[in-house]
Amino acid sequence: MKKYVISGGKPLYGEVSLSGGKNAVVGIIPATVLVKGVCIIENVPNINDVRELYEIMEKMGADISYIDEKTLRVDCTNVVSYVADYDAVRRLRASYYLIGALLGRFRHARVGLPGGCSFVERPIDYHIKGFEALGAKVSIEHGIVIADAEKLEGASMNLDFPSVGATVNIMLAAVLADGLTVIENAGKEPHIVDIANFLNAMGAQIKGAGTDVIKIRGVSELHGGRYEIIPDQIEAGTFMAAAAAAGGRVTIRNVIPKHLESISAKIEASGATVEEFDDYIIVSRDENTPIKKVNVKTLPYPGFPTDMQSQMAALLCRAQGTSIITETIFSYRFQYVDELRRMGANLTVDGNVCIVEGVEKLTGAAVKAEDLRAGISLVIAALVAEGITEISEVRFIERGYENLVDKLLSLGANVKVVDDEAEPTVSEAKIS
Ligand code: EPZ
Repeated sequence: MKKYVISGGKPLYGEVSLSGGKNAVVGIIPATVLVKGVCIIENVPNINDVRELYEIMEKMGADISYIDEKTLRVDCTNVVSYVADYDAVRRLRASYYLIGALLGRFRHARVGLPGGCSFVERPIDYHIKGFEALGAKVSIEHGIVIADAEKLEGASMNLDFPSVGATVNIMLAAVLADGLTVIENAGKEPHIVDIANFLNAMGAQIKGAGTDVIKIRGVSELHGGRYEIIPDQIEAGTFMAAAAAAGGRVTIRNVIPKHLESISAKIEASGATVEEFDDYIIVSRDENTPIKKVNVKTLPYPGFPTDMQSQMAALLCRAQGTSIITETIFSYRFQYVDELRRMGANLTVDGNVCIVEGVEKLTGAAVKAEDLRAGISLVIAALVAEGITEISEVRFIERGYENLVDKLLSLGANVKVVDDEAEPTVSEAKIS
């Protein structure tokens, strides 16, 4: 197992280019099950979640291969199995998209309940209600979601919450159904739009993605085609928070500024400058400009994304004054707090609110990534902490960030990757 060893206290200067969106690609790869033909998917990020899905698809009989390091070729024409490997699907959350895709293609699906970032209980009842509205019978037996349908008929439904996963999964089950499906109170995230655009490129008839009413008119089959995945707006936000926290001047290329509006607003409120251009932004903060306190409340898109909540907490640890972070998407998402406290942060959690009292400095410590976004918040904190921080369990971080260490090194950060068994270096931090 690997860990990152980061020597903090240096401002960041340079530029990074975003990778393809994690939450888009983990929907698009399962969606290829619906396609009888060859799908060429471009701008695929090299992350653990993609590797897990690659393995699952191969086991199901998909003809899948890399054309180059960022382009996947997937042909599901000859897939006949609607059973996904139980242990493999437990390794990530997005494997649940296979339920909608297999149900849509075969009218049957046998997919184990998902795993992935388990910072809180994450049910899939909205997904199941959507499948049932389309005419499927769904049960969970021995940890496996069993879905069967004589036929799938378009239906109108209203989501209790604009769930990203449920919106996508229902879309996947509906594209080959008979008739019109209308999803009200749908999620509007950019990755939902990207998955809808992919399906339309393959012959689906989906309208309204990105609004809260999505209409899917069923078609008889989908054909192959080529599609390029959008850049990852959460990766953009992560580097924006890192630049604002460490100070310096960072250019982030290959962005879609529209997707970053709520993040840019909070990064600017913290005292950093955000300059916006067509497909890149520059985030800067002079080291003499203090970090200002900011209140953050996570909301469905276009509100401030929950996937950026922990990165903001890391930034605000050294703000002047008290910031309040309110998490409204998940019932709990503060599992990074104890680890930041090891670095000297002053955080108090009360229900779905985290109160961040700014402190003068953070100090390096041995900390552990609890999940993807909790882990990345530790990376940001380590970049600004005095001394050396060791982050273990980085496999969680590498689920969603492609070439993170190389990108940080290109910004002048002092980061090393070592084996877990390596002698702890943090003890050096105690030398004073
Ligand atoms: C997706 O998770 C993302 N994952 C998450 O990103 C992201 O945090 C989340 O959307 C919100 O934006 C992927 O896209 C693979 P939801 P998902 O359904 O689909 C409740 C990351 O860090 N809910 O929008 O699971 C749920 O418990 C990951 O990249 C139900 O109650 O999120 C939560 O409170 C973490 N029943 C809320 O709705 C359901 O059937 C929003 O969940 C579904 C969801």
